[in-house]
Amino acid sequence: MVWLLWSTVLTVFCMFWLRAVAEREFLNEWLLEIPGGKEAALSVAKDYDYKLIKELPGLRNVFHFRHAKIPHRSKRTARTYSSVLELDERVTWLEQQAVKIRQKRDLIILPPAAESDQQGVAVAASFPGIVPPDMMPTSSPKEGEETKFFNDPLWANQWYLLDSPPATTRIMRAIDSRTSVSLNVFPAWRAGYTGKDVVVSILDDGVETKHSDLLQNYDPEASVDINGNSRDPTPRYENPEDTHHGTRCAGEVAMQANNNVCGVGIAFNSRIGGIRMLDGLVTDRVEAEALSFNNNYIDIYSSSWGPSDNGKTVEKPGFMAAKALENGVNKGRGGKGVLYIWASGNGGVNGDSCAYDGYASNVYTLSVGSATETGRIPVYAERCPSTMAVTYSSGAWNEGKVISTDLNNTCTSGHTGTSASAPMASGIFALVLEANPNLTWRDVKHLVAWTSDPFTLLETPGWYVNGVGMLVHSVFGFGLMDAERLVNAAKIWQTVPEKRKCVVRKVGSSVENAVFNYKNPLSVLVQARACQGTDSEVRYLEHVEAIISLTHLRRGAVRIFLESPSGTRTLIAPMRAADGSSQGFDEWPFLSVHTWGENPVGVWNVTIESHSNSTMSVGTLLSLRLVFHGTNQEPSSTKTLRELRRRQTVAALGEKFASHTRLKVKVNSTGSSMVWQEISTVPTRNQMGFQ
Ligand SMILES: *[C@@H]1O[C@H](CO)[C@@H](O)[C@H](O)[C@H]1NC(C)=O
Ligand SMILES: *[C@@H]1O[C@H](CO)[C@@H](O)[C@H](O)[C@H]1NC(C)=O
Ligand SMILES: *[C@@H]1O[C@H](CO)[C@@H](O)[C@H](O)[C@H]1NC(C)=O
Ligand SMILES: *[C@@H]1O[C@H](CO)[C@@H](O)[C@H](O)[C@H]1NC(C)=O
Ligand SMILES: *[C@@H]1O[C@H](CO)[C@@H](O)[C@H](O)[C@H]1NC(C)=O
Repeated sequence: MVWLLWSTVLTVFCMFWLRAVAEREFLNEWLLEIPGGKEAALSVAKDYDYKLIKELPGLRNVFHFRHAKIPHRSKRTARTYSSVLELDERVTWLEQQAVKIRQKRDLIILPPAAESDQQGVAVAASFPGIVPPDMMPTSSPKEGEETKFFNDPLWANQWYLLDSPPATTRIMRAIDSRTSVSLNVFPAWRAGYTGKDVVVSILDDGVETKHSDLLQNYDPEASVDINGNSRDPTPRYENPEDTHHGTRCAGEVAMQANNNVCGVGIAFNSRIGGIRMLDGLVTDRVEAEALSFNNNYIDIYSSSWGPSDNGKTVEKPGFMAAKALENGVNKGRGGKGVLYIWASGNGGVNGDSCAYDGYASNVYTLSVGSATETGRIPVYAERCPSTMAVTYSSGAWNEGKVISTDLNNTCTSGHTGTSASAPMASGIFALVLEANPNLTWRDVKHLVAWTSDPFTLLETPGWYVNGVGMLVHSVFGFGLMDAERLVNAAKIWQTVPEKRKCVVRKVGSSVENAVFNYKNPLSVLVQARACQGTDSEVRYLEHVEAIISLTHLRRGAVRIFLESPSGTRTLIAPMRAADGSSQGFDEWPFLSVHTWGENPVGVWNVTIESHSNSTMSVGTLLSLRLVFHGTNQEPSSTKTLRELRRRQTVAALGEKFASHTRLKVKVNSTGSSMVWQEISTVPTRNQMGFQ
């Protein structure tokens, strides 16, 4: 009887376990950290019958091992092999490599009728060779003549770069109150910034190095093929649809100007590289190598990919990829930190949120989303409070898409999604780093926070004002990137003070094992002194992380708000209908930039709700800590920008709304004037109908 019971329990346990591991696939590869260096690594490999493939470039004492005697790919971990290595004192850390599911952030939106949209537009039939023009625009083109400024055939279609767009585009943007409609790249070019001497690399499925619009700017030093283990990132051509993504991203940054081919890259004199890493099995090792490749040569890494956007994935970088990101910002670019630009994700139609994508939502990356040609939220957009800003990208099927280079020396006018937005931002950052190469990775984040333009997008609901008068939005972040304001501010920027980090743990009976359910949300108050009087003191916030562990039988029905002492109430964990996981959250870092500039001292209110009315769905909070990132002195360059921002916000919203931190502002226009309304910050319960 007892035996029967036990075997039942065991069977159930095994079924559960099998199902859990069946989703993963393990390779016969390991990463090991061996502080003794190469010699020690060789002897470890020899002792246990592994082949030492290499030391990971850029990561000290981390070694890539392969075991010849176990299958290349398997559904099971080779637990016993790992255990033996764990016991060896020469090894301080190790992990068997598992395959990660990674998606590119482009998408196809079909028109309602069958009339299909042109994807691969052929290049102007003949190439007149590389013209070495004086490519710097020296004078402002006359109204309406911008489209003739460059001879590249698709330049006139690059609506997101034209300050005075042609009539067809103007009709699409027929919103009277728009103050500015482009990314203001033209004025930055006119000021002399075209990305010269700045190196951008695209982490993707390859880059067509010989494309006639990329050739001149292509930089082999910034390139590597991690999938094929060579230095040539040229993509595979068997299925061009599957491997054109990287080349499309690269062209946005670095298409040559005035050479009669395709369009014009935003940083048309920058150097462009490709890191081919998505066209094969992606593991922590592959990502770590890509993110740490040539950190003292490449300035900007552009990533338009990440974990699945299926609305139920919760995933962040693995141990070594996380370490690579941290190294890159701390040691890369001669200590100023490389820029990791990340696409915020395309899972909007799946109800996904970038709060659960630990690549986009990461202190060390700068996450960029998309606005459509008419300043709307694209259907694919994901909401989360870590997105810093947006650039333009595709929207509805009849709205503008993005021009770029495509495989086989062709062009495309159909690049889409947040995939197009991240390289567009990377191109703008190349101009910014040319304007001031002294900027650190944090300076760049501050510049984005304080110079982005929310006003152009104000007619789209969802904005609210934070404690220091900044407008923030869960899709648009601080607003539309503005290249002119960015380079102007960059030129006179003073490096922000050293970064500090203060961790505030909430311990005691109010947290451990506190329960929440449909009827009773749990509010945890965290009294933060923000490490006052210590070396870690933070008085001016940059990022805030709420690192939370909790259990709940339906993870997607959990919703978490974080309210700052200034009253900024941020939705840090949106609900997701598709996420039925029973695994809860294990030390998940919910990240927000919406309290940027605020003083963290005071009471923070974390409210955790369950929107599942099933009696089973009782959640238990296991742990909670807040991590404040910022400075203890106000960065001197932000003072003037803060005052400017406040004045702009007052002008746009009126005094009453501009200083009101708690409310969301929604606008409707009656004729030419806007009407502002307070709307409740608390959406009605159970809108998603969870059970
Ligand atoms: C594209 O270029 C590759 C490499 O040069 C070649 O193998 C392939 O056949 C070309 N495809 C087309 C459709 O021209
Ligand atoms: C960058 O730093 C150098 C050395 O400190 C300084 O001479 C230069 O003026 C700085 N450039 C800018 C644009 O701030
Ligand atoms: C914390 O937030 C919740 C939800 O908004 C609210 O009901 C509660 O009163 C707040 N607690 C305090 C002390 O402000
Ligand atoms: C839960 O909510 C659903 C949909 O709102 C409703 O039909 C159902 O009766 C509720 N169940 C309980 C136990 O309250
Ligand atoms: C616009 O806002 C005003 C003032 O709150 C309101 O009376 C009106 O109904 C709104 N109009 C629309 C179209 O939402």
